[in-house]
Amino acid sequence: MPDAPVIVALDGPAASGKGTLGRRLASHFGYAYLDSGLLYRAVGWRMLREGKDPEDAAAAAIIAAELGENDLKSAELREDRVANAATIVAAHPDVRQALVGYQRGFAAKPPQGAPGAVIDGRDIGTVICPDADCKIFVDASVEVRAMRRLKELQDRGVESIYPRVLRDMEERDARDRNRPVAPLIPADDAFKLDTTDLDADAAFELAAAFIAARNKPDKS
Ligand code: DC
Repeated sequence: MPDAPVIVALDGPAASGKGTLGRRLASHFGYAYLDSGLLYRAVGWRMLREGKDPEDAAAAAIIAAELGENDLKSAELREDRVANAATIVAAHPDVRQALVGYQRGFAAKPPQGAPGAVIDGRDIGTVICPDADCKIFVDASVEVRAMRRLKELQDRGVESIYPRVLRDMEERDARDRNRPVAPLIPADDAFKLDTTDLDADAAFELAAAFIAARNKPDKS
């Protein structure tokens, strides 16, 4: 029987660098990559587009249950207004429940027969894949994350100012960490990677070494 796919659960707050890190780890190990935040963004975006209030749990759950691959492709998913709607819909238990199957299916059978999956999100190591082989919790101070986010916005030509970006980041953090269902917390057995003083290369080296060590045939 072929080995079960290796699952790398990569959790952490907004702008902690886990997206860049996740893509790089996936390509390094030949694993498939899933940005689970896109699922919540897609629900948030459809709510906004259809003129619905993201606080409307019943409407959001219906959209989550109907979500298709095409919903994950809109350019608007990256916008801040969509990120804000995503943090609101992500707090509805029925929305989260509707998205569990897709994420677990991706982990159990990564696309194109890849031997593993890197899934980035908030609750992958705690709720979606509690038995993941490798759990990494990426974090950085909120000030550093806000600076990174500001730079990213400026690089895209979006006008923004630091105090506003910092305030948005603090609000999103509070919603993600304090919600009663699947809050953003590190799994007990997660490798905690603080990237406050690390550049992307240094973070990648540490995470890749952790994964390689966990996947040695003689791992205990
Ligand atoms: O990773 P991101 O910024 O694209 O995520 C957008 C929002 O979706 C985030 O504020 C919280 C939510 N989210 C979640 O609740 N659980 C996940 N596994 C991924 C994202």
